[in-house]
Amino acid sequence: MRLRVRPVRRLEGRVDVPGDKSVSHRAALLGALARGRTEVTGFLEAEDCGRTLRAVQVLGAAVTRKGGGHYLIDGVGLAGLHECDDVVDCGNSGTTARLLLGVLAGQPFWTLLTGDASLRRRPMGRVAEPLARMGARFGGREEGRRMPLAVRGARPLRALAYRTPVASAQVKSALLLAGLWADGPVTVEEPAPSRDHTERMLRGFGADVRVDGLAVTLTQGDELHGQTVAVPGDVSSAAFFLAAGLVVPEARITLSHVGVNPTRTGLLDVLDAMGAGLTVTARPGDQGGEPVADLTVSRSGLRGAAVGGPLIPRLIDEVPALAVVACLAAGTTVIRDAAELRVKESDRLRALAGELSRMGGRVAERPDGLEIQGGAGLTGAEVSSGGDHRIAMALVVAGLAARGETVVEDTECIATSFPGFVEAVNRLAGGGAVAAEA
Ligand code: S3P
Repeated sequence: MRLRVRPVRRLEGRVDVPGDKSVSHRAALLGALARGRTEVTGFLEAEDCGRTLRAVQVLGAAVTRKGGGHYLIDGVGLAGLHECDDVVDCGNSGTTARLLLGVLAGQPFWTLLTGDASLRRRPMGRVAEPLARMGARFGGREEGRRMPLAVRGARPLRALAYRTPVASAQVKSALLLAGLWADGPVTVEEPAPSRDHTERMLRGFGADVRVDGLAVTLTQGDELHGQTVAVPGDVSSAAFFLAAGLVVPEARITLSHVGVNPTRTGLLDVLDAMGAGLTVTARPGDQGGEPVADLTVSRSGLRGAAVGGPLIPRLIDEVPALAVVACLAAGTTVIRDAAELRVKESDRLRALAGELSRMGGRVAERPDGLEIQGGAGLTGAEVSSGGDHRIAMALVVAGLAARGETVVEDTECIATSFPGFVEAVNRLAGGGAVAAEA
C-alpha cells in the first residue's frame, strides 16, 4: 500500500494514542505466567502485540477478548506452559522474539521460533548467548544466533551476573524473565538505563526485583499473581504527532494519557532543548505502574541539538520522528552513539538519511548516527518505508510539512504498531491529508 500525502497548513485536536507496545507485550507475558486472572485494558491491538498474545495462547494460557483493547488472560503459573505443536511466528516483532526466548529458556521442552524477513535478519545472539550460560540450549541459523531458531529450556536455570554490551531492554527483560526459573539471583548491568517496564511490572505481579544503579537483580520467589493492568498510551506513537505539531504551520495537538516513564521520555527533553512549545500535564496516579500525562504541542521555532550518550536509549524509537523535526529546525542536529538503529526493523540510519535526502533534507549518515543540517525545508518526493513502521510514519509527517505532494511506498507495516495512524492524521487535518492507494 502506498500513501499519498499532501502538505497541510493546520492540524488541530486531540489524539488518544494507542496503548504502549512495550507494556502490552509484558502484560501478555506476565499474565500468562501468573497464577489466576490478569485483566488488561488499553492493550495495543496491533500486529506486534498480537504475536505475543498468540504465542502465550499456543503455549497454554487462555486469552479472552472482552472488547477493544480489553483482555482477560488466565495464567498457568510458572510450571504451567506446555510444548506447542507448531512453529511460533513472531512476525516483525523483536520484543515478542527476545522476551519469549527468555521465558522459553526456563521451559523444559523445545520451541521453534521464526519471524518475517526483517526479524530473521536481526541479532538473537545477544539474548541466546547469556541464556545459554544459564543452561538453555539453542539451535538455528548462524549457530543459533538468527531466526528461525529452536530453544530448549532447562529448569532450574543457573544464576547469572551479566553485563550487557548494549543498553537493551529486550536483552535485560529476557534475562530477568529467565531468572524466574533460576536457582539463584539474576543480575543484569547495562551501560546506560534502558526502559524499565519489565522491572515495574514484575514487581507489580509480586516478583522480587531490586535496582542498584545500572544493575537490576531478580531473585526467584513464589508464583506471580494475576493483576489488573491499564496500559498507558505509547509515547513512541505520540512522537509522530509531537513532530507533526512542531512542523505544520498552524498546529495545536493534545495527546492524552501518554506514558511518561522517564526511561522513555528522551524525546521530550530534546524537543524542549530545541525550543519546542510542549506542555506536559501529569495525570494523578499511574497506569499499569507507569506515570501518565497529557502532552500538548504547537508549532514552534526550533534550533538544532546534540543528542548522544545515555539519552539515546531513552529515545531510541523516536529518532525517525526527531530526524524529521531536525530537518525543519534552524542549525545542525547531530545524533551520536546510536549504532543500535542499524539493527531495528530496518537500518534506520540508512533509511532516514536516504529517504529524507530524497525529500531535499540535508541528512548525512554517520557510522553511529546522523548529521542533519536544518533550515532548507523538505520537498515532496517518492519515498519508501523499506517495510519499517516508524520510518513510514516519519515520512508521512515529513510529507505534511513538505512543499508539494509526497508518496510513501510500502506502508502496510504501520499496522505493526499503530493501525489507526492515517485516520488520526486525517481527523486532525480536517480530512484529506493522507490517502491510501493499493
Ligand atoms: C523494546 C526495547 C527496545 C525498543 C523496542 C522495544 C522493548 O529495543 O527499540 O522497540 O519493548 O523492550 P532494544 O532492547 O533492542 O533496544
